[in-house]
Amino acid sequence: MSLITEIPVLSELDVPRASTVRATGDIKVYLETYGCQMNVSDSEIIASVLKEGGYGLTGSLDEADVVLINTCAIRENAEQKVRRRLNEMRARKRRGRPDMKIGVLGCMAERLREKLLEQEKLVDLVVGPDAYRDLPRLLGESMDTGQAAVNVLLSREETYDDIVPIRYDSNGVSAFVSIMRGCDNMCSFCVVPFTRGRERSRSVSSILAECDALVAQGFKEVTVLGQNVNSYRFGQNGNTVDFAELVNRISLISDELRVRYSTSHPKDCSDELLHVHKERENVCNYIHLPVQHGNTAMLERMKRTYSREEYLDLVDRTRSIVPGIALSTDIIAGFCGETDEEHNDTLSLMRKVRYDQAYMFMYSERPGTYAERKFEDDVPDQVKRSRLTEIITLQSQISLENNQAEIGTEHTVLVEGRSKRRDDQLSGRSDNNKMVVFDRGTRGKGDYVRVRITDCTSATLIGEEIHG
Ligand code: SAH
Ligand code: SF4
Ligand code: F3S
Repeated sequence: MSLITEIPVLSELDVPRASTVRATGDIKVYLETYGCQMNVSDSEIIASVLKEGGYGLTGSLDEADVVLINTCAIRENAEQKVRRRLNEMRARKRRGRPDMKIGVLGCMAERLREKLLEQEKLVDLVVGPDAYRDLPRLLGESMDTGQAAVNVLLSREETYDDIVPIRYDSNGVSAFVSIMRGCDNMCSFCVVPFTRGRERSRSVSSILAECDALVAQGFKEVTVLGQNVNSYRFGQNGNTVDFAELVNRISLISDELRVRYSTSHPKDCSDELLHVHKERENVCNYIHLPVQHGNTAMLERMKRTYSREEYLDLVDRTRSIVPGIALSTDIIAGFCGETDEEHNDTLSLMRKVRYDQAYMFMYSERPGTYAERKFEDDVPDQVKRSRLTEIITLQSQISLENNQAEIGTEHTVLVEGRSKRRDDQLSGRSDNNKMVVFDRGTRGKGDYVRVRITDCTSATLIGEEIHG
């Protein structure tokens, strides 16, 4: 299996998530989610706002009065996927559901704005990521007037911190908790600062209250989310809480609660945070540390603000403070001007770091970004593709070797549910974020189980429960 098709970290979902809860209100909304974990988390906020506004959610398109698609704009193929889906919805509307409303939410709504109304004539609603509180009003307006309704205003303050998300597609074990919104980094290839606006942090008290409530409901794991969690900062006048302190405080809520986070920018990963990993048993032994490229000149062009050497130093520092910590990354192949030598630097960095997992992409030019304005997207498609294949092949080999080295070791696995392949097996993740499957025995969802690893593939560890 190609690693690209694994569950992504802040990248597109392969299978869109559909709303599954039963309808309660008279007007029923079908909500479908594309994109990253932030979008999954946003859809839980959207579900809550809609419910408060008197709308019901449905998992059935047939009974939907309103179809909302929460979209992603990160790469062109993410947008194409959404466009195909919109066309299907349009056809459905034409085939006898003339009153059905179709709405585009999220990053594509923000990027394309009114263009969506002009191009996709049957879109009734365009709502950006900071305007979800306005959804009930906009929907009502569009239903009353038959006119399209738009709100794509970005905010400097909105964090939805008082909204209790409805976790309609949850496994009841692990939950996402959004701790900040937006991004101020302006990496030259990336559309996110344009679609999500300025960075802002959510209040410590509302984050802790949400985590407390999750523990009370029996959740065992939280993944705190932001585009750049390391720059989390809340408070004033010498009374600020930074990311390391926030993670520490969440971890102190309960020893039974595992804490993960995504995503951290290498430029501001602090020693304090690494010490929290070391000292707090329930802060997972895993960091997603996107490098994007292995060559310093390319990193400069990408405006990542660190060099190859600085990144490698950070990896050394991380591993010396937290021995055995698992690392994953994001890599882009074929960015503007990339030469064969520069591409080889990515491969050599991968060989040096030996990531446990990687999410690997072909560069896709995004309108309005610095790269689109200043550089030429000059690496031919087939070269991009073959470099990406080389990167994926190397990573599969490294993942397999890393997993083989796990054979004979013991892990505490938090069970997330039945294994997809075999009903008599359970699957869950180890502390270091590896998917582990083992025979069900008497165990179930939400249990912490000690497992000895006996076999593996490049994507999964296979083990057996250790009794006694
Ligand atoms: N905030 C996160 C990234 C979110 S986007 C971070 O900085 O880590 C997830 C990944 O998509 C990025 O890390 C990058 O590898 C990839 N990506 C972003 N823009 C892209 C583009 N224009 N083409 C290809 N991949 C891109
Ligand atoms: Fe995009 Fe860079 Fe911000 Fe990540 S840190 S969302 S890659 S601009
Ligand atoms: Fe996420 Fe895609 Fe937007 S990756 S932030 S949904 S552009």
